[in-house]
Parts: sequence; structure tokens; C-alpha cells
Amino acid sequence: MVDKIKEHISEIEAFQARNMEEIESFRIKYLGKKGILNQYFAEFKNVSNDQKKDFGQAVNTLKNAAQDKVTALKEQLESTQEEKGIYGDLSRPGEPVEIGARHPISIVKNQIIEIFSNIGFNVSEGPEIEDDWHNFTALNLPEYHPARDMQDTFFIQTNPDVLLRTHTSSVQVRYMEENKPPIRTISPGRVFRNEAISARSHCIFHQVEGLYIDKTVSFADLKQTLLYFTKQLFGKSKIRLRPSYFPFTEPSAEVDIYWGLETETDYRITKGTGWLEIMGCGMVDPNVLQNCNIDPAEYSGFAFGMGIERIAMLLYQIGDIRMFYENDLRFLEQFKSSI
Ligand code: DAH
Repeated sequence: MVDKIKEHISEIEAFQARNMEEIESFRIKYLGKKGILNQYFAEFKNVSNDQKKDFGQAVNTLKNAAQDKVTALKEQLESTQEEKGIYGDLSRPGEPVEIGARHPISIVKNQIIEIFSNIGFNVSEGPEIEDDWHNFTALNLPEYHPARDMQDTFFIQTNPDVLLRTHTSSVQVRYMEENKPPIRTISPGRVFRNEAISARSHCIFHQVEGLYIDKTVSFADLKQTLLYFTKQLFGKSKIRLRPSYFPFTEPSAEVDIYWGLETETDYRITKGTGWLEIMGCGMVDPNVLQNCNIDPAEYSGFAFGMGIERIAMLLYQIGDIRMFYENDLRFLEQFKSSI
């Protein structure tokens, strides 16, 4: 019988538990009411007197071994749980690490910034909540000017002087008010218009404004700068400037790039012409310079403005502007490998 007890002891020493349930059933097996130990205790009266001493000692050793094991197992389990609390589950595999993706608007915005910073433009920003002066009046759009209707405006509460900027041209004004020429700056940012949401237009979108003011800036400088830009961004080397109207520039133009007619998509997006309009531009109106305390007799300059969504839609062939704001991972994850 003593040999059998010794076998139990080595079994106890070798035992390992993964959780509390296993420890509990181990405890019941040895130390429970109907457990192995109590069975030996019940056996005690049947043991012959000369063997009682050895038997008693062996049973006691077994009891201690079982009790010590239960305590040790519990301590061990608690300490691994504590570690998990600090470090998470250390046994989990480390790969793959999910990496995020930059939003396509940010990717295109950064590309535009990079292209213009290579030719000496800095980046400037202004507030999204604007006043009438910076968004309209200083830009040669006085109160009741019919061109204000071109941009459906969100006003803040009932104060007509506080509004959500309808274009980043407001940053031009702020920049000219605070800086002396020569000025070479681009202003990316979010703009707001009270427009019906559709596949082509949204009430929130992004623009990049450009401004160049110096002593003898000409329309030729404007065209050459835009040609450089379109070559860099689209890899297309043909542009045309169509006469247009903006209150803050004179003369004004819209810029088309020659996209080509190679695929069916090219036909669809250029309506069969091969040409695509990508931005507005012009020579800064002397009234605007004056409003910003720059002498139009001494300085001239050009400005341009483009929509980032429109350019991203062309570059990535995205058919619906609403995709940019829906945060659908199936869409966003497609930009993972981009910068
Ligand atoms: N602000 C114009 C718009 O939102 C875009 C624009 C056109 C900006 C011509 C300019 C410009 O600076 O010269 O439609």
C-alpha cells in the first residue's frame, strides 16, 4: 500500500493545470470528501499495528503533497493572468500587423503640395469658419454681387457675417493681409457649399488655392506654372486655357488638360472630346490687391483654385464623390500601398 501511495505522490508532482477547473478537479480527486486521501484514512483501522506508523507517515506526506500542489498551481495561474493583464495574451501570434492607409484625399493633397513646394511655394492655411470680408467682399464680391449666387453658402445661425468658407480663396486674402510680396503660397483646405449631394457633388469638399505675387508676374508665368503642375501630377503635357469669369481675377480662365481618348472610360469622362476641366485661374484683380494693401501699380500676380476630390477621382478612377466620406474599409483599404 505504501508503494501505491508513493505512486500517487509522483503523479501529483508531475501534474500540470491549464485553468481553474483543472485545479479544482485535481483537488477533488485527492482532497475531496470521497477523494483518495479520505479513502486511505478510512483504511487506517484495517492496517496492522506494526505497519500503522509507516502507513500514517506515507498518508501524511501524500496529503501535504496534494495540498502544496493545489496552492502552487493556483499561484502560478494567477501570476500568468496578471501578466496577461499587462501585456495582453503573450501566446498570440505577432503577425500580421495591420497597417492603416492614408485617405486618398490626403494622398493627392500631399502630392500637390510636393509639386508646388519644388518650385518655391509654401503652404498656408486659414479658418473654415470665415467672415464675409475674407470669403466675399475682399475678393471683389461685394454685397448683392450676382456672382455670390455661384456658391451656395452655409451661414452660421442668423449672422450673415459668419459663414462656412465656400472656397479656399479666402486664404489668399488672409495671406496677403499678413505678408508682403513676393508671395508664393498654396492653401489646401476643406470648403462647404449648400449643394444637393450626388455622385458628382457634395456639401463638403477640398480645394487647393495657389497665389503668386511679385513685380512682373505675367499670364505666361501662370500658364507655364500650370503646365509644369499638370505634367508632374497627371503625366500629361497638353493644356489649354479657356476664357472664363471669376470676380477675383481679370482676365480669368478655366484650365483643361488633354486627357486623350484611348479607352472607353476616356470617352465617357471627357464626353468624347478628350479634354477635361481641372481648375480655375487668372491674374489677381487689382481691386483684390488693393483690398489687401498691396499696390497694384507695383505688383501683379496670378491665382488658381482646384478641387482635390475631382483630381483624386480622375487619378484613381473613382466614379462617385460620396465614397470619400463614407469610411467604407473596402474602399479605404485600396490605398494601402500608396504614399
Ligand atoms: N474659388 C474658385 C471656386 O471655388 C476657384 C478659383 C478660380 C480660385 C479662379 C482662384 C481662381 O484663385 O483664380 O470655384
